[in-house]
Amino acid sequence: MNVLLIGSGGREHALSWKMAQSPKLDKLFIAPGNAGTALLGENVPIKETDFDAIKAFVLDNNVQLVVVGPEAPLVAGIHDFFLADADLKNIPVIGPQKAGAELEGSKEFAKEFMMRHNIPTAAYQSFHAGNLDEGYTFLESLKAPYVLKADGLAAGKGVLIIEDLEEAKRELRSMIMDNKFGSAGAKVVIEEFLSGIEMSCFVLTDGKSYKILPNAKDYKRIGEGDTGLNTGGMGAISPVPFADAEFLQKVEDRIVRPTVEGIQKDELPYKGFVFIGLIRVGNDPFVIEYNVRLGDPETEVVMPRIKSDMVEMFQMVGEGRLDEVELELDPRTVCTVMMVSGGYPEAYEKGKEITGLKDIRNSIAFHAGTTTDGDKVLTNGGRVIAMTSYGNNPEEALAKSYTNLEKVNFDKKYYRGDIGFDL
Ligand code: AMP
Ligand code: GLY
Repeated sequence: MNVLLIGSGGREHALSWKMAQSPKLDKLFIAPGNAGTALLGENVPIKETDFDAIKAFVLDNNVQLVVVGPEAPLVAGIHDFFLADADLKNIPVIGPQKAGAELEGSKEFAKEFMMRHNIPTAAYQSFHAGNLDEGYTFLESLKAPYVLKADGLAAGKGVLIIEDLEEAKRELRSMIMDNKFGSAGAKVVIEEFLSGIEMSCFVLTDGKSYKILPNAKDYKRIGEGDTGLNTGGMGAISPVPFADAEFLQKVEDRIVRPTVEGIQKDELPYKGFVFIGLIRVGNDPFVIEYNVRLGDPETEVVMPRIKSDMVEMFQMVGEGRLDEVELELDPRTVCTVMMVSGGYPEAYEKGKEITGLKDIRNSIAFHAGTTTDGDKVLTNGGRVIAMTSYGNNPEEALAKSYTNLEKVNFDKKYYRGDIGFDL
């Protein structure tokens, strides 16, 4: 079958790499893709939220399955757009409809969902212009640090963790009254601070049954030792070494199953991925957030650990028959280390030539932010290359990634040398 994948990052390169191994795949198209996806399929210059252009392309190219990488098209309703169109409605889309995508699109919606279905998460209240004073009172009732979350999508920047009470009040005011995060912050969720170690759990569901995909740990800060600004993610490891069988059983019993049952009870139209950001407090899991997509760079370690045919899995999700397929995993460890542009996550330059990609041995270089210029590969984003390797343990896998990262060069390249330091 012909598949269209929406997105352009390392996540999409890893999904392309995996789907390209399927005997069921005829043509793979990626909109808009990057220099890495261009090696596995055909990049098409369409913006991820240009639904009319996507429609025309799908019909002209006999696309039989659409897989959505990022959240923006889902929250904007790409799946609903397909279902509402007579010519598109029978083409399965992997990714929830708009009502399901609210699990990521609105923090308040996600918190209410968790409360309704008894899913463990931090205590919270939400505030807006009409009850700002109550927000100050609520902050006074909490202990530092204070966690403030813009309700809507804020490109991963909408969460503030603040030590000082007066500063927390000022930030609350600035989010609600001064549009600090635009309309995303018109409502703010304030929640109890949870202290523990975080991990990511990935679930594929057809809205009825589910498969738990490999878990992963993401390294979010720019600096070594988990210091400095937050990024999209600087590296990842799967499986998570501290997540033992007992803990993972709790995750399934208390979080995954109630989440999928909650989706069913609430009649949320959901065929796609659920990415559950978890925190382990003591030996118990709590949900930090839901995302309605896969993580990046987590996908770069999750896809290499799946042995099953992903195109077939997606087909079965589309048909509501996910329970009929087996998920087979690779027991090895997979690690990835992200090479970024100097300056990221603040201002950085693009268009730098990348050399050395042909010299890589025993790793997979997933492209995150790259583009082509003739036969040159150029940087085209903050995160550039996710160097991914297998090993019998994290040390072995990381050693391969670091050896290969030395071979790849571009002006002002940077990567963390300590991924896995805390394990
Ligand atoms: P989110 O966008 O909701 O994932 O939040 C971004 C980051 O803020 C998370 O990855 C956590 O590190 C942190 N965070 C969010 N909520 C809490 C909380 N209730 N307690 C402690 N840390 C939190
Ligand atoms: N790496 C975290 C995310 O994709 O949201």
